[in-house]
Order: sequence, then C-alpha cells, then structure tokens
Amino acid sequence: MKRFLSGIQATGDLHIGNYLGAIKPCVELQGEGESIYFVPNLHSLNTRPDPAKLRKETLSNIAWFMAAGIDPNKSILYVQSGVSANAELCWILNNFVTMGELSRQTQYKDKSSKKGVEGQLVGLFAYPVLMAADILLYSATHVPVGEDQAQHVELARDIAERFNNIYGDTFVVPEAVVRKVGARVMNLQNPDKKMSKSDEGQSGNILLLDNKESIQNKIKRAVTDSEGLVEFSDTKPAIANLLQIYSGVTGDGIETITAKYAGKGYGELKTDLANVVVDSIVELQTKYHELLKNEDYLLEIVKEGNRKANEIASAKLLEVKVKLGLL
Ligand code: TYM
Repeated sequence: MKRFLSGIQATGDLHIGNYLGAIKPCVELQGEGESIYFVPNLHSLNTRPDPAKLRKETLSNIAWFMAAGIDPNKSILYVQSGVSANAELCWILNNFVTMGELSRQTQYKDKSSKKGVEGQLVGLFAYPVLMAADILLYSATHVPVGEDQAQHVELARDIAERFNNIYGDTFVVPEAVVRKVGARVMNLQNPDKKMSKSDEGQSGNILLLDNKESIQNKIKRAVTDSEGLVEFSDTKPAIANLLQIYSGVTGDGIETITAKYAGKGYGELKTDLANVVVDSIVELQTKYHELLKNEDYLLEIVKEGNRKANEIASAKLLEVKVKLGLL
C-alpha cells in the first residue's frame, strides 16, 4: 500500500509554485493510497515568527490544503506540533546524520551564504533531520515535493537505510515524487531564481491570495526575451517558466501549448496564461475564504488529524525506542 506524505510550512504567503509543485500533486495522489498531509509549524520556528502570525498561517495552510481538494475524510490532515513524537524522533535521528551532510544541503548553503555560518540557528541547520523524522515516523512510501526539497528527501532515505542497516528493518525508505512540470516554478522577474515565500510582496511571485488585477499585471510584466518565439528550451528560461505554469494549471502538455502559440507572440500567451491562472486561483480563493470563516471547524479537523497521526507515530516511535534500548 502506498502512503503519500507532504508538508507545507507556515512561513509567509503561499505562491503558485507551492500549489503546482506540492499541493496539486498531493490532491491528485489522494485516493491512490493512504495520504498524510500536514503543516510543519515546528520548522517555522527558525524564522522566530510572531506567535499570532504563526497560528494564523498554520490554520491558513490547513485551509489551502482543503480548498485545493484535500478531504479530511480521505487523508490525515494534521499539525506537526500536535504530535510530540516528530520532535522526539528528530532528536534520535540527529545521531544518524553528520554535520558534513547537513552542511551540504543546498537550501542551508543558500541561506547561510547570505548571513554567514556563525550566526545561523541550529534549528535551521538541523531542519532536514526534523523533515526526515516527519517522513520516517509515518512510513511514507512517497513524498510529493517541489524540486528544492528533493535533496532533503534523499537525506531521509540515507538516514533510513543507515538506521535499518544497524538495527534491522525499521523504516520504510521513502521516494520523492517530483513532477516534470511545476516542480520548480521560477520568479517572473528573474527566471534564474525560483519563486520563493521569502520574496513576499515582490512582483515576481504569483501569490495564492493575489487578486485578479494583480495576477494579470504580474504576468503582463513578466520578463521575456527579444526573440518573440514561444518555445520550451533551457536557453529561454523566462518563456519555459510561463509555459510550465500554463501546463501545470491546465494539465495540457507543453507540446500542445507550444503548438497552439506557434507563430504568435508572447502577448497572446501572457493574456491567455493570466486568464487560466485567474480562473483556477479565484476558485481556490472562494473555497479558502469560506473555510476560514469557520475557525472552530478547522480546529476540529486539526484535532482529529492530530489524533490519527499520533496513533501512527507513537507506534513507530515505540518500535525505535525498544530497538535502541531506551526504557
Ligand atoms: P516549503 O514550505 O518551503 O514548500 C512547500 C512545498 O512547495 C514546494 N515549492 C515549490 N515547488 C515548485 N516551485 C517553487 N518555486 C516552489 N517553492 C516551494 C516545495 O518543494 C514543497 O514541496 N521542508 C519543507 C516542508 C516539510 C516537508 C516535510 C515536506 C517539512 N517536513 C516532510 C515533505 C515531507 C518546506 O520547507 O517546504
């Protein structure tokens, strides 16, 4: 039986990269096996968030999951801090990973290169270990993520194999599910850089909360090139990015889209792209706002999700503790 698991951090407003790279695949995989989706709010602590903002963004991500189609009757939908076993397994797994491995994680390297290593929080450095615990504790077979998280899933695999080799079969070795299209949506103003929550407010991100005009303006102003040819190619990253967003949103293949715009300019592609993005995001937003109106209902969903997640997690944690001789 396949078990899908993924998480979306409560740190800043979600963008269309989060949707196409992770949320949409999570929804599509629901029903092909068991699924567990969650908000990793302990991960967010490395940005020292304002408590009220963290609480709000945690519930907001639960609402986005549900607005996109995650059904709490079909999937477990929970919040990381509601299951203590995640943090406890993280501590155990810290002893199965080296400083060298963590120093080589691209995301950590990117973040520490801006500020220098000395002042980095241990919580940021060790963040992939908590992510490994999130995955291994629930025996996930498949982890749908965007490309930037694939290296962390790879590390979770290494940790699982290392543990299993010493203590016998304990953890399922998980596989990252990274879509060909939509797994690395780039910034509309700088197509060499991925769209990122930490670039909030910039015109290069399409936020899930953007209104129609804002989406249209951002797409209209997206950088292109001077060739005017709608082609999918590594040498044309700006156009390739617009095409992958188009394909991710509509489900049409890249070839179908390039054929449709052959001989036409970028203007037409951009107008149509804005329309399809607006249609899909507006539909999501309507459901999202509806869900947020009833906070008690969302809290009930989380409580029930936490309960189910705790059952799975505590059984696995006990197995690990017995193997390690922890009384
Ligand atoms: P996070 O919250 O940064 O991102 C959530 C998901 O969105 C994907 N993503 C993108 N996909 C395509 N294009 C982009 N520009 C883009 N930006 C982000 C991410 O790859 C991710 O799938 N550490 C994780 C959260 C996490 C997790 C886990 C995920 C914690 N524990 C266990 C899976 C399994 C993170 O910070 O993702």
